[in-house]
Amino acid sequence: MTRREVGVGMLASATLAVAPIAATAQEPGSRPLPPPDKVGGMPLLAALQLRHSTREYSAQPLSAQTLSDLLWAAFGINRPSGDRTAPYWRHVMVIDVYAAMSDGVWLYDPSAHALVPHLPDDIRAQTGLQDFVAAAPLKLIYVAHGERMTDISPEERRLYASVDTGFIGQNVYLFCASVGLATVFRAAVDYPKLARAMKLPAEQFVTFAQTVGYPRA
Ligand SMILES: Cc1cc2nc3c(=O)[nH]c(=O)nc-3n(C[C@H](O)[C@H](O)[C@H](O)COP(=O)(O)O)c2cc1C
Repeated sequence: MTRREVGVGMLASATLAVAPIAATAQEPGSRPLPPPDKVGGMPLLAALQLRHSTREYSAQPLSAQTLSDLLWAAFGINRPSGDRTAPYWRHVMVIDVYAAMSDGVWLYDPSAHALVPHLPDDIRAQTGLQDFVAAAPLKLIYVAHGERMTDISPEERRLYASVDTGFIGQNVYLFCASVGLATVFRAAVDYPKLARAMKLPAEQFVTFAQTVGYPRA
């Protein structure tokens, strides 16, 4: 499955309300993630008690299992219908989650639960305007497919894409609180610069970014 087909599959699933969740052939170079641990972590109310933003990170990378669990919690598939751990506007799959790490930028493919290579470059420092941004091992970059949001104004596109992203961001916050990771959701982003660094087509736009890592001791 090519990256484009991943996107088309998501669009088709939105239209048909049935997602292609059967095992999918993976694009060459894609990195399968270990199956997510769906029963771990702490009770929800305890995680809510601990949720907060962090702006001091160590460089310690996340294990493959932790990355898998994080991405599934963020916006993975949680039902046979192919729907997700976060709600989304009009049942149209608008948001893609990218992971920017030291070894490049990867697109999270929830159907295959895998990372699809997007860029080989380390663009972490370009994902935000604050000093801590470069140090942390993982930046989630939320990208909206504006072209999938038909019949609404550009302002509404931005609004609904932002709300979709906010739900995902809160999933990330609660997952991080639950397993001792640190995170902060970020709007302080040079959006044109990041779109260029990510080589996004004109109809796609970054909504927010979110740093994830371990807190600096
Ligand atoms: C839409 C939005 C944008 C944000 N942008 C940034 C940002 O660019 N940089 C940052 O350090 N924190 C950012 N934050 C985090 C907030 O500053 C933080 O959630 C708030 O101060 C409350 O602190 P807490 O999350 O620790 O409860 C953002 C939060 C939201 C919801």
